[in-house]
Amino acid sequence: MVDHYAVFGHPIGHTKSPEIHRLFAEQTGEPICYTAQDVPPDCFSVALSCFRAGGGKGLNCTVPLKELAFRHADEVSERAKLAGAVNTLLLEGDRIFGDNTDGIGLVRDLRDRLGLDLSRCETLIVGAGGAARGIIAPLFEAGVPTIAIVNRTASKAVHLAESFSHLGRIFGGGFDLVEGRRFDLLINATSLSLEGKVPPLPEGILREGAVCYDLMYGDGPTPFVLWGKRQGARLNVDGLGMLVEQAAEAFFLWRGVRPETGPVIEALRRARSGGCMSFSNPPEKP
Ligand code: ATR
Repeated sequence: MVDHYAVFGHPIGHTKSPEIHRLFAEQTGEPICYTAQDVPPDCFSVALSCFRAGGGKGLNCTVPLKELAFRHADEVSERAKLAGAVNTLLLEGDRIFGDNTDGIGLVRDLRDRLGLDLSRCETLIVGAGGAARGIIAPLFEAGVPTIAIVNRTASKAVHLAESFSHLGRIFGGGFDLVEGRRFDLLINATSLSLEGKVPPLPEGILREGAVCYDLMYGDGPTPFVLWGKRQGARLNVDGLGMLVEQAAEAFFLWRGVRPETGPVIEALRRARSGGCMSFSNPPEKP
């Protein structure tokens, strides 16, 4: 008996999730199939009902459906509550459980795979939308001492920082907020890479040995990764590792088995550099 899982998103064209879960299934021997479905927000309820009626066991939800998925869950995890968004649904009988594995996916990639000592990382998050909201609590939980948030719309960064101030040292504002400050870890949580642009950060913002991380990933280096290189960052990484790590956590929730992520990340990077995927594909977010 093969269990059916899927990712819903809009658009969904270039998603790598089916390939990732196929590799997990192959590795673990779990009998699953995983498909992708383009679901515009106003079709979400119907698509979810149909998927459940067809015996579907679990879903990933990506942009722009994460807040909707949150509202459709009967019960959500603590980390989903903090993120205000759900990227993983577990469908058990008539009960829907919602979780958010994005933040832990980022932490696993930074800490366990790239070897960062997060307790020493003064961190700057650029952007104050849903992607930024989802990573703040997991970063604090992983020991990050301070988080600054800058955003084009300064008030959104201020509010976001305020809403997490009970968890640690955090402040937010416009891009001028970081003039004269330096950071160990810069995380791009804006959607600017989609437009081929980088955030207007001042020069000299990186400490010695700093790491630049773009939550977006594409078939080539994202504009933020290239910017980090030009600024002399020690490591410049896109969000492919986070994508695979968040998928592994969802797989674990669904199947109770934790796949090994390293070989899957390597396989995807190899496929990318081998040209198996089109370089014209735009960057994406998990
Ligand atoms: P997501 O859920 O992926 O985070 P979002 O909630 O729409 O998407 O947030 C997009 C983020 O990218 C926001 O921080 C947004 O800044 P604003 O809050 O000022 O809109 C940022 N962003 C998008 N386009 C931008 C641009 N051209 N310049 C600067 N920031 C931009």
